Amino acid sequence: MKFLLPASLLLVSSATGWNTDVHNQIGFMAEEFLTANATAVLSQLLEPQYNGSIGRAAAWADGFAHTDEGRYSYQWHWIDSHDYPPKSCHLNYSQDCSTGGCVVSAIANQTSILKSCIKAVQTGAFSPDRNLTCSYALKWVSHFLGDIAQPLHASGRAAGGNFFKVKFGNESTELHAVWDGYIPYLAANVSHPFSNQTIAPFFSGLVSRIRKDLFYEAPYMWTACTDPEDAVKCATSWATESNSWTCNYVYSRVNQSVDLAEDGYAFGAIPIVELQISKAALRLATWLNKLVGEEGNIEQNEGVVVGQQGRVSGAQQTILAHSEEETVDEL
Ligand SMILES: *[C@@H]1O[C@H](CO)[C@@H](O)[C@H](O)[C@H]1NC(C)=O
Ligand SMILES: *[C@@H]1O[C@H](CO)[C@@H](O)[C@H](O)[C@H]1NC(C)=O
Ligand SMILES: *[C@@H]1O[C@H](CO)[C@@H](O)[C@H](O)[C@H]1NC(C)=O
Ligand SMILES: *[C@@H]1O[C@H](CO)[C@@H](O)[C@H](O)[C@H]1NC(C)=O
Ligand SMILES: *[C@@H]1O[C@H](CO)[C@@H](O)[C@H](O)[C@H]1NC(C)=O
Ligand SMILES: *[C@@H]1O[C@H](CO)[C@@H](O)[C@H](O)[C@H]1NC(C)=O
Ligand SMILES: *[C@@H]1O[C@H](CO)[C@@H](O)[C@H](O)[C@H]1NC(C)=O
Ligand SMILES: *[C@@H]1O[C@H](CO)[C@@H](O)[C@H](O)[C@H]1NC(C)=O
Ligand SMILES: *[C@@H]1O[C@H](CO)[C@@H](O)[C@H](O)[C@H]1NC(C)=O
Repeated sequence: MKFLLPASLLLVSSATGWNTDVHNQIGFMAEEFLTANATAVLSQLLEPQYNGSIGRAAAWADGFAHTDEGRYSYQWHWIDSHDYPPKSCHLNYSQDCSTGGCVVSAIANQTSILKSCIKAVQTGAFSPDRNLTCSYALKWVSHFLGDIAQPLHASGRAAGGNFFKVKFGNESTELHAVWDGYIPYLAANVSHPFSNQTIAPFFSGLVSRIRKDLFYEAPYMWTACTDPEDAVKCATSWATESNSWTCNYVYSRVNQSVDLAEDGYAFGAIPIVELQISKAALRLATWLNKLVGEEGNIEQNEGVVVGQQGRVSGAQQTILAHSEEETVDEL
């Protein structure tokens, strides 16, 4: 964005991503897919108040972006394409990433810092004495892999939809906020924020659907590009995919003269939000597992059924059966 929002608007507009509690939940989902080794190594990088939890730490970047100290990182939460959905959608990293960075470059930069931090932990060279460079890198990576999956974080029209007025549930708001929060809350059928301490039932339901391959697009396809060595390429592919939703749904179905909670728009958006959130979580876990040197083999370590139904062990079936009970309650 080339302009500043008034401070009051910044607080409510969520210009920086999924609502903070949704970011926490994406982190908690990712934790479910981390290997034991990855969990152990990564927990050493975080400040004590997070108790080693990626989920608890995953929302930090929003608050930090709004401090004087962290102002430079504000624009790292998105990439503004120069297209005009729904007429045209395209994203070009070298053209669209502003001077000072964007979500793609920030993922690449922070991933490379995180990699050296992990190496330091593994060689015993890491001084756990408040190395903020490393803590920030992990918190940013955990946050930005969430942001980049939000369609309006890879779209320049109306500044990511922040200036696109809509009505939702009789409230005047903007399209960006609808995707950041209103739709996730509707999908989960909650009227209050999700926990910032533990995974909420709706998100455990998504974890269970990932494990059971119950999305219309198989989870193994989501992680086709998840090599941290190819960070710019992979992050660009994720952003491009998010950007294409702005043509395929976000702007093609929106009608500014009706209430989006009532005309079918919000309900049609639920599967997209569920898919994008699930992709973000699985990609984050795969990314972090690979950085720890586990080759991202989450199937072997955590019993994820990656795209092949029926390949579950007895132990996994127990986990799945349990998740299913939770899912039924929730969805
Ligand atoms: C972590 O990985 C190392 C080496 O790959 C292995 O020896 C160790 O048992 C693993 N630890 C855990 C907790 O999985
Ligand atoms: C901190 O994490 C440990 C290990 O995962 C857990 O047993 C403990 O309950 C957590 N403490 C708090 C306060 O969440
Ligand atoms: C992206 O933009 C660069 C710089 O303007 C240009 O050279 C390149 O051809 C573009 N790539 C695509 C795929 O359009
Ligand atoms: C990435 O790192 C380079 C060099 O370290 C720096 O110039 C650039 O501003 C950084 N960008 C982001 C988005 O972090
Ligand atoms: C933090 O750890 C990284 C990786 O070991 C290191 O490169 C960096 O210098 C450390 N920073 C501080 C302030 O100790
Ligand atoms: C919006 O307001 C109208 C009239 O007050 C009411 O009938 C309707 O149920 C409200 N819609 C929502 C989604 O709250
Ligand atoms: C949504 O939640 C409300 C209140 O908790 C409940 O009465 C309703 O049945 C739920 N709707 C669905 C579709 O689950
Ligand atoms: C977590 O949620 C509680 C209760 O909603 C809130 O008081 C607290 O400030 C939140 N913590 C963080 C770090 O956002
Ligand atoms: C938007 O909704 C209004 C009111 O229902 C309707 O008249 C109009 O045709 C709709 N616009 C589009 C593009 O569907």
